[in-house]
Amino acid sequence: MNKIEILQVGPYPSWDEDPLNAKFTMHRYFEEDDKAAFLRKIGPGVKGIATRGELGADSAMISALPNLEVISVYGVGFDAVDLDAAGARGIRVTNTPDVLTQDVADLGVAMMLAQSRGMIAAEAWVRDGNWREQGLFGLRRRVHGKRVGILGMGRIGFEVAKRLAAFDMEISYSDIERKDFAPDWGFYDDPVALAEASDFLFVTLAATEATRHIVGSEVIRALGAEGMLINISRASNIDENALLDALENGLLGAAALDVFENEPDIDPRFLLLDNVMLQPHHASGTIETRQAMGKLVYDNLVAHFDGRELLTPVL
Ligand code: 8YV
Repeated sequence: MNKIEILQVGPYPSWDEDPLNAKFTMHRYFEEDDKAAFLRKIGPGVKGIATRGELGADSAMISALPNLEVISVYGVGFDAVDLDAAGARGIRVTNTPDVLTQDVADLGVAMMLAQSRGMIAAEAWVRDGNWREQGLFGLRRRVHGKRVGILGMGRIGFEVAKRLAAFDMEISYSDIERKDFAPDWGFYDDPVALAEASDFLFVTLAATEATRHIVGSEVIRALGAEGMLINISRASNIDENALLDALENGLLGAAALDVFENEPDIDPRFLLLDNVMLQPHHASGTIETRQAMGKLVYDNLVAHFDGRELLTPVL
């Protein structure tokens, strides 16, 4: 019997690719130079898309696949999938929630600690011989006991807050409504008020049109010259130009970022700043979590084509 054809938008580790290749005919979109010509050639045979959170599937891709039935996203964020285009044709969409929550929270907290204590610069201080030649590394700001704001009290925001409670931090959050599961934490419905009440502001929102640039110059100014912004969600939640302006002019103290506009070709202005920590969108990037994500991508595709319920449906 002919194997079902899947469009693979980006690479996966071999432990994910091996089972996908065994079960399906995988078309490796990311290896093609002329992507439009490739879609014209293989498009009619494709019934599924296997993609990644940051790569998604746009309306041009979806409309080039007339027999598409399902899009399986390796990532919790599905903002890069055109849900309107998929929904209009009854195409199912799945993602990989829950399995990555803890790792994303861990990296956010690690970035806050590392940036606040200057650990990257401190490492260079040792390696470059400055410790021996010039003496002690400069003093930095403490974390414990400070005020932290969580913008987006979803699964990831909750795990960040739980971790920070152990640092005796004063925790507040903002979301579209107060959460029953967070009775001990302060609530602000206005992100500017949250930023005013925070020394550290975590952005943990699922990205939508409504949250686009929710962190703009007002929120950034409210966080202030001693404040730090940590983003482990999507770049679109922040007005990146406003952020760069504020970092360059000292209106914002520091930032720690795992996500950027136009990844991996990030704005070169970031590279000139020493008050920002730059990470290559790897908050979910542990072997354990990526294995669980890859398994969910595979299991959702198999469930769909076996006519069973999707494990983690979006649409
Ligand atoms: C991944 C992500 O980094 O979950 C998401 O939404 O962005 C990530 O976990 C990405 O999908 C891996 O390519």
